[in-house]
Amino acid sequence: MALLTILKYPDPRLHTVAKPVAVVDDRVRSIVRQLADTMYDAPGIGLAATQCDIHERIVVVDVSETMNELRVFINPEIVQASLDSKRWEEGCLSVPGVFDEVERPDRVTVRALDEFGQSFTVEADGLLAVCLQHELDHLNGRVFVQHLSRLKQTRIRGKLLKAERELV
Ligand code: NI
Repeated sequence: MALLTILKYPDPRLHTVAKPVAVVDDRVRSIVRQLADTMYDAPGIGLAATQCDIHERIVVVDVSETMNELRVFINPEIVQASLDSKRWEEGCLSVPGVFDEVERPDRVTVRALDEFGQSFTVEADGLLAVCLQHELDHLNGRVFVQHLSRLKQTRIRGKLLKAERELV
């Protein structure tokens, strides 16, 4: 099992916009496997390749209680979003120890390729909808704290930089 290193906010590499995957081949499936291993080990319910300094549009998600329902999204796109929104408390493996509410569309329809290159569409609500929007943000270089106020972002940045210094 090869675990990847998860970048921590405010690492500027988290703001890289990921490139689309051209061909879903063994190289991509190997990245998917490593992302899944890293997500389950953390443990987390979603991980975008961007968070592991791989700037390709690949996301893994598992919102099941038993953590054995891996979902793979390659080149994911939100094709439809509900007009009604909802506030959920979010956290992120790249922003350890920070949880805050973000308002997002309640339901989204996401189209993507699976690990075999087959196109599929999922209509997501609840936690899956939140998770997919959060992970797709990562692929666009956006971390969830950027949905919060400037003041909160400054505080979070300060807190994480301090934690990093204390580790050294
Ligand atoms: Ni995240």
